[in-house]
Amino acid sequence: MNKTFANDIIEGLTAQDKYLSSKYFYDANGSKIFQEIMHMPEYYLTDSEFEILSLQPKQIIDTVNFKEPFNIVELGAGDGFKTFKLLEYLVNNDIDFHYVPIDICQGAMNSLLERLKERLPSLSIHPRVGDYFEVLSKENLQTNIPSLLLFLGSNIGNYAKEEAKDLLRLLNQNMKPQDKLLLGMDLKKNPITIQKAYDDAQNITKRFNLNLLHRINTTFDGDFKIDDFDFYCHYNPTNGEVRSYMVSLRKQTVVLNKLNKSFNFDYNELIWTEVSKKYDFEEIEALAKHSNLKVEKHFLDCKHYFSDVLLVKA
Ligand code: AVI
Repeated sequence: MNKTFANDIIEGLTAQDKYLSSKYFYDANGSKIFQEIMHMPEYYLTDSEFEILSLQPKQIIDTVNFKEPFNIVELGAGDGFKTFKLLEYLVNNDIDFHYVPIDICQGAMNSLLERLKERLPSLSIHPRVGDYFEVLSKENLQTNIPSLLLFLGSNIGNYAKEEAKDLLRLLNQNMKPQDKLLLGMDLKKNPITIQKAYDDAQNITKRFNLNLLHRINTTFDGDFKIDDFDFYCHYNPTNGEVRSYMVSLRKQTVVLNKLNKSFNFDYNELIWTEVSKKYDFEEIEALAKHSNLKVEKHFLDCKHYFSDVLLVKA
């Protein structure tokens, strides 16, 4: 893990246009800050998806229309906060299913299991810790019963265009013919609403980004001075992308002792950290088509900010 992390850091910080991948945001501290983001009033994504899963679990399960028993396989389950409403509906209605949460982080999985045991004691849970593609291809979907895959929270938005297609293709390859995928996608909307969700007044998203510099310092014995970097993000309504950056506030050199490397930053030089893509319905159709999937139905919140898109094999 550290070797890939090291290579990615070196590659990103020596590129002509510097970048660091947002997948490295999520160490223990980064995951905590992300929880804070999800509770910010400006970060509408969580509330919108929570509304969909709280108010429409019956419509979702009826449309999925699986013969019982079936699996609910959640990729990147995290704290399971949103999924809880769907699980609660299924348990309360005596529907025969197994919940298979997959997450790379053992700690997150432990707290999820603890909470579910307390709040839904009769739930059948088969947790898996690991990379979701490895887990998916190895075991879960080889069962004969159908699986509804959940990939929620607009996580697909953090993948560049080609990567998003590859990811959906890979998911498709791991789906049995009758399996379905519920994909959380953030929709294009008033650009000011989107800008505010990422450029928040309390600077929590700034902390989220700069935490990656802390992580690099700790992992590689580095001397990034966090105060010498700022945060900038910009929503482009034409392509639907929020792009986030760190900004070097002075000309400086940073040393990563364990890697035996130093990196130079110009005054106001940018490090690109994240893309958060917002989609419209045509783009969703096109993305599905490219991955040999078909949109069966959109489940929307009342403001039409977010869609949990039900996809089937084309
Ligand atoms: C995890 N992901 C969907 C979040 C997003 O909205 O792109 C990460 C995030 N970055 C800044 N705020 C939230």
